[in-house]
Formats: sequence, C-alpha cells, structure tokens
Amino acid sequence: MNDAARQQCINPDCNETYAIDEVRVACGKCGSLLDIRYDWDRLPSLKSLSYFEHRWSTKGRGTAGRLDFSGVWRFREMMPFYRTEDDIVTIGEGRTMLQQADLLARQVGMRAGNLLLQYEGLNPSGSFKDNGMTAAFSHARMVGAKRVACASTGNTSASLAMFASLAEMQGLVFIGTGKIALGKLSQALDYGALTLQIRGDFDACLRRIRQIAVEMPQLGIYLMNSVNPFRLEGQKSIMYRILEALDWNSPDWVIVPGGNLGNCSAFGKAFMELRDLGLIKKIPRLAVINASGANTLNEVYSRRGVRWNDGRWDQAAVGGLYAAMDEANHHAHTVASAIEISRPVNLPKALRALHVMNGVVREVDDEDILECRSLVARYGFGCEPASAATIAGLRKLLAEQVISPTDTVACILTGHELKDPNVTVKYHTGVDTKAIEDQAPRVEPTGRLANRPVQVEDDLKAIIAAIGADAAL
Ligand code: F0G
Repeated sequence: MNDAARQQCINPDCNETYAIDEVRVACGKCGSLLDIRYDWDRLPSLKSLSYFEHRWSTKGRGTAGRLDFSGVWRFREMMPFYRTEDDIVTIGEGRTMLQQADLLARQVGMRAGNLLLQYEGLNPSGSFKDNGMTAAFSHARMVGAKRVACASTGNTSASLAMFASLAEMQGLVFIGTGKIALGKLSQALDYGALTLQIRGDFDACLRRIRQIAVEMPQLGIYLMNSVNPFRLEGQKSIMYRILEALDWNSPDWVIVPGGNLGNCSAFGKAFMELRDLGLIKKIPRLAVINASGANTLNEVYSRRGVRWNDGRWDQAAVGGLYAAMDEANHHAHTVASAIEISRPVNLPKALRALHVMNGVVREVDDEDILECRSLVARYGFGCEPASAATIAGLRKLLAEQVISPTDTVACILTGHELKDPNVTVKYHTGVDTKAIEDQAPRVEPTGRLANRPVQVEDDLKAIIAAIGADAAL
C-alpha cells in the first residue's frame, strides 16, 4: 500500500481522510467530494519539470517504458497513488498535441502564434476522457473491482467501455435515450459494454448510477464518473502536456468547456500542486465555457456571485437554484450534447479551480458553437460541438477585452470531430440524418458479436433487472 497518498474530504471544516485503497466517491462524514492528496515530502522530490523529458527516449521498453509511452503516466511522479506499476491499466493514452493555430487565430482576431489548440480528440477513444479513465481503472484494478459503471453523455461511456475490455472487467454504461452522439454510442457497443438507454437525461442517469454503485455496495459496482477522484488525477496530465509543449512555461489562459466540471477541477488541482511544489512560475487564468442551454456554472459563478470562499461556498444559493430548476421542470438542452448537464457534480471543485486560476465563466449559444466547430475544422483538424465552445468563449472574451489578442491562449479541444457526424452533416447540408435514423425500421442485428443497447425505464428495479444484478439483492 502506498501510504504517502490518501483520500481527503475537500470541506475544510471536515478534512476527513481515507486510505487510498478504499472505494468512495464522497466523504462518509459530511458527503463532500474527495481529493487525492500526497505527502510530497515523503516522496522523491522533483527539481524541475524538465525531468520528464527523458521519457521521450525511454518509451516503449519494459514495464516502465510502457508507462513512459503514455502521455499520462510519463508524469507519474505527479500522481503517485498506485501501489506498483503492474496496477496501471494503459493503452498509450494522452499522446496528444498542442497545435499553433495561426489561421484560426487570424479568423478570431488573435495575433498569429498566440492561439494554441490542445487536441484531446487524438486519444485512443477520441476524447480527453482516456486521461482520467487510465487512472481510475488503475485504482479499480488495485482494489480488485470486477464491474465498472458510468452515466454518460457519450464520451465517458466510450472510454469506459474501451478500458473495461482491456482490463477484463464488465463495463456498464447508462445513457439517456436519444441523448448521445452516434460515434460515441457505436463505440460503447463495439467495445462490448452493456449499454442501458434510460428514458431520461444525463442528470437522471447519474442519479440512478449513484444509487446503484454507492447506496448498494452489495452489487459490487465501481463508479467511473468524475466524482471518482482518481479520474481527475489522470486529467491533470492535460496541463502537464501543455506546459511541456511550451518549454515548461504557462500560457496566459486555458479555456475549457464545462459540463460535469471534472476537467476544469483537475486543471485547478494540477496548478495548485505545481505551485505548492515550486515547479512553476506562473498559474494561467482559467475560462470555463458553458452552453447557454446548460449554464449552471455561469449562473452560479457569474450571476449569483458564488465563490470558493476557502471551501465555505454558499450552498444555499446553489440549493435555491436547483430547487427553482426542479420547480420549473428545467432540463438542460444544447446541440453540444456532451455538456448537456444541469447539475454538475464537481461544482465545488470547479469553484476551487476558478479561485486558484483567477478564472472567469461564460456561456455561448448553440449557433456560435456550431459556427466555431465549423471554423476549427476549416482551419485545422476539427472537434466535436462541445469542444468548440472554447473558441466561441474566446471570441466573447476577446470582444469584452478580458483576453487580449497578444495573450497566449490554450483551448482544450476535448473530443474528436467524428464523434458527432450528424451535427456536421446537418450543418453543411441541412439534412437531419438523426431524424431519418430515428424513423428507420428496426431489424434484428445478425452479426455474431452484435451487442444491442437495452432500453429501460428510469426505474430502479427495472435497471437492476436489466443489469442482471437482482440475485445480489
Ligand atoms: N467536452 C466533451 C467532448 C465532453 O465529452 C465533456 C464531458 C466535456 C467537454 C465536459 O467535461 O464534464 O469534465 O466538465 N462529457 C461527459 C461524458 C459528461 O459523459 O462523456 P467535464
């Protein structure tokens, strides 16, 4: 067991700690989110981030070389929670690039050389989620998990399904009926996960999966959503790669789409740790971009002025907003289906990240998202709609003169453009291929490996029966 690492409640009035090999997604005492914390002074100390550069020449050879090949684990000294290197489940994730996007910079009014795109769609399952899944699966292997599950707007399910098949665990994914993009659904099926299409949206799916994984431990289901603090350890590596590409200098800004707010939370933690370890000179500013139809963070942070406040954030203000949403039967709605979420579970950690990185939050409408998605593809490599919220947010922040054309800005393009072909085709041709698909006659699949999704009502008993777990009750 690694006793220099622990799980710790983020509530400063609680601070309860748990061993690293416990399986938890919330503090048992106060219900707050958990962090993975390290006693850095009991671990080998790093003098400089340039230490990591030697791994480009050692990648691929032996066990350590397998880890050096990964864009997550080549920074393993920054996430030393695992017991031995054999625990680590990796497929060579995180080998992504930071592109200097001069043509796009000119289009949006940035100086050439100053707009950088971090293409996380280049991960093996096509989204940034692989950075987190490799870490959470390594923890799952460490604790002997056999069954893993998530609720998802699509990318988490694709990534979970891929790692579950690699790690020989049973993968279980809950998605909202009709809510996820075609590319993502096809991946979950292809990698062999049991895919439940629940009648409801992401928020409903997450509520159900938490009930099943957290409140019913007898079912033995390990939860892989970003409330799992190990996921966020892996996602810190996106920031290390940006620093590495800039010769260990920070950009002025990092811009990221906000959905369940795991990614921005991980970025804040990465910089908090690097600052405390004296490994960076400057912390970049953070801009989190919501879609207007899924704008909880913007509402909470920009309109209601809720701040981290040393961990004593205004829970009543957020509770009031959620009660008003329930009252109005409000559901998130945006073309950027990946971020169609109204109750982001990592909200407190996102507030902390905004504090650490002197952040701002904005929302952008669907029309801007679609135009920016198309602009990225026209001048670069392409991304899915949610990812393009970063460019739409950048345009807004340039217009407000919050960001200057001479700032160095890194936009995180979270998912590959082929994830959501329907949106792209509809944008260019006006033809709604998704509507056509919905009306197509249903036929039995005949392939020997066919793995059909299972339709289920948003009902606990029905869900447990569908996953074949009734016997464990
Ligand atoms: N971009 C893409 C492409 C995503 O898939 C997601 C989240 C986000 C941005 C937002 O990231 O949740 O860390 O704030 N997708 C999750 C999923 C919710 O289920 O695939 P976040």
